Amino acid sequence: MRTAILASGRGSNLQALIEANRNDKLPIDIVAVGSDFVGSGALIRAEEAGIPSCAFPISNYPHRQAQEEDILIWMREYAVELLLLAGYMRILSPQFIRRVNSLVLNIHPSLLPAFPGLHAQRQALEYGVKVSGCTVHLVDEGLDSGPILLQEAVPVLPEDTEERLSQRILAAEHRLYPEAVRLLVLGKVERNGRRVQIFEQGGLE
Ligand code: GRF
Repeated sequence: MRTAILASGRGSNLQALIEANRNDKLPIDIVAVGSDFVGSGALIRAEEAGIPSCAFPISNYPHRQAQEEDILIWMREYAVELLLLAGYMRILSPQFIRRVNSLVLNIHPSLLPAFPGLHAQRQALEYGVKVSGCTVHLVDEGLDSGPILLQEAVPVLPEDTEERLSQRILAAEHRLYPEAVRLLVLGKVERNGRRVQIFEQGGLE
């Protein structure tokens, strides 16, 4: 499956996907990586892995629609069938989601529907939950609201800071995202409205 990845920041989830792919654990073809930040860690990692990369800095565009238009053209050029958001910090507009010609997945650092949006780990700590985690979901027109493919829980410990909890969740993200993508591309995922059924799990290790 021809796959593009959009990431804004350091790109550790991107790296986890690249490595799973390199180790023959993830049967996708990562054809392009894009970022809304020039010089982001994600673009550097893509370059190091020899994957074509492209920056779409918002300051280059008169408005968001123009930026998304460029992303759509870029995806068409690479004949992208699967778009993975891996720490992409801009919300894609409903128009983009309606027009995009591929499946779109996202990873979020909480057990959705709890704590959507920014600073999910901080929200979890402030709320006082005892368990948090991460979610891989299909992207729909809402904010972190699409049907859920996989979730992994991690404990929230009394001595946790935002940084410590984020690190524990991130380790789970690095397992969960490649696994969710693997199940999807191997056709082990069936969707019935919001409910997504998985027919096999646990093959990545
Ligand atoms: C991850 O926690 C991801 O869930 C969130 O942003 C963070 C990105 O981290 N959406 P990285 O850039 O993949 O290291």
